[in-house]
Amino acid sequence: MSENIPKLRAALDGMPSYKPGKRNTGDGPTAYKLSSNENPFPPLPGVLESVTGAAGSFNRYPDMACAALLNELADRFEVPVEHVATGTGSVGVAQQLLQATAGPGDEVVYAWRSFEAYPIITQISGATSVRVPLTEGEEHDLDAMADAVTDRTRLVFVCNPNNPTGVAIPGADLERFLDRVPRDVLVVLDEAYREFVRDDRVVDGLRLYRDRPNVCVLRTFSKAYGLAGLRVGFAVAHEPVAAALRKTAVPFGVSQLAQDAAVASLRSEDALLQRVDALVAERTRVFRRLRDQGWTVPETQANFVWLRLGDRTTDFAAACEQAGVIIRPFAGEGVRVTVGEPEANDIFLQTAETFRKSL
Ligand SMILES: Cc1ncc(COP(=O)(O)O)c(C=O)c1O
Repeated sequence: MSENIPKLRAALDGMPSYKPGKRNTGDGPTAYKLSSNENPFPPLPGVLESVTGAAGSFNRYPDMACAALLNELADRFEVPVEHVATGTGSVGVAQQLLQATAGPGDEVVYAWRSFEAYPIITQISGATSVRVPLTEGEEHDLDAMADAVTDRTRLVFVCNPNNPTGVAIPGADLERFLDRVPRDVLVVLDEAYREFVRDDRVVDGLRLYRDRPNVCVLRTFSKAYGLAGLRVGFAVAHEPVAAALRKTAVPFGVSQLAQDAAVASLRSEDALLQRVDALVAERTRVFRRLRDQGWTVPETQANFVWLRLGDRTTDFAAACEQAGVIIRPFAGEGVRVTVGEPEANDIFLQTAETFRKSL
């Protein structure tokens, strides 16, 4: 019967599936979703209107070139428009980068644990993942990552701040690392959480990319800008890389709703970034309370905190769920908890305190 089964690529065998943060089913007691690093604020009125306006013409294809959005991004970040490329979320752009650079026999280097899409999209490309463990302090081990680069390496992901630990890389360390990576290896600085960074030592990747043609900066509208459901992200990179991203884009992948909402968001940036400030204030509160309770929490520069709970991970996640907050467990390792509404954060903190006392 095997001749009746379509031949699929062996690269897909045994592939880990992406585990999305658990959703709130709406059944049972109130549950706050702190499992996907989403923005808890609802869309801004102006942004919502841009989407409802675009909704009236979704019988038409979107602008395939995303011209208005590319121009807006180029102005906002003061980069040539040819250096900007969009995609279906920054994970979509990351996948395009792999399609453009790597295939069977090639290697992709990244820290581990890091964003869980990296192993999946690497495996789909047919390339081999080279995972470099985080240090004891949950930091990228940049020396070991540079040592892991070989003549087979085509792409290196640097997740800054790192998901799920929240730890960010000081600029001087990152520059030293970039100096060690050969100029023909693409380094992708995944800055999905850049807007939440408050540590001045952490450099904006857009400053680093300018005189380094092998550096690509990945950003998203899903987190700080609150457009996770619309699927739009972008990369800033020198022309050959940006051009390769245009070649590998799914035609018409970014909907007009997403394009218009992203433009409206950039134009409402002050209001949106005020919300980010409020989330950062909550992050500080959550972080301090956890440390006061006796937890070891890495310094986070993102919109989430990381507790390395080891064997107790799933018990802790169950206790949180019981109390009314859904968090993201990584079994046997730890939990990532998004900073959400103050009420949700309070429930999480209360649960953490009770759990800590029971240890
Ligand atoms: C580090 C990192 N990069 C990229 C993404 C992808 O986000 P999106 O595809 O929504 O832009 C995420 C989402 O969780 C992330 O944590």
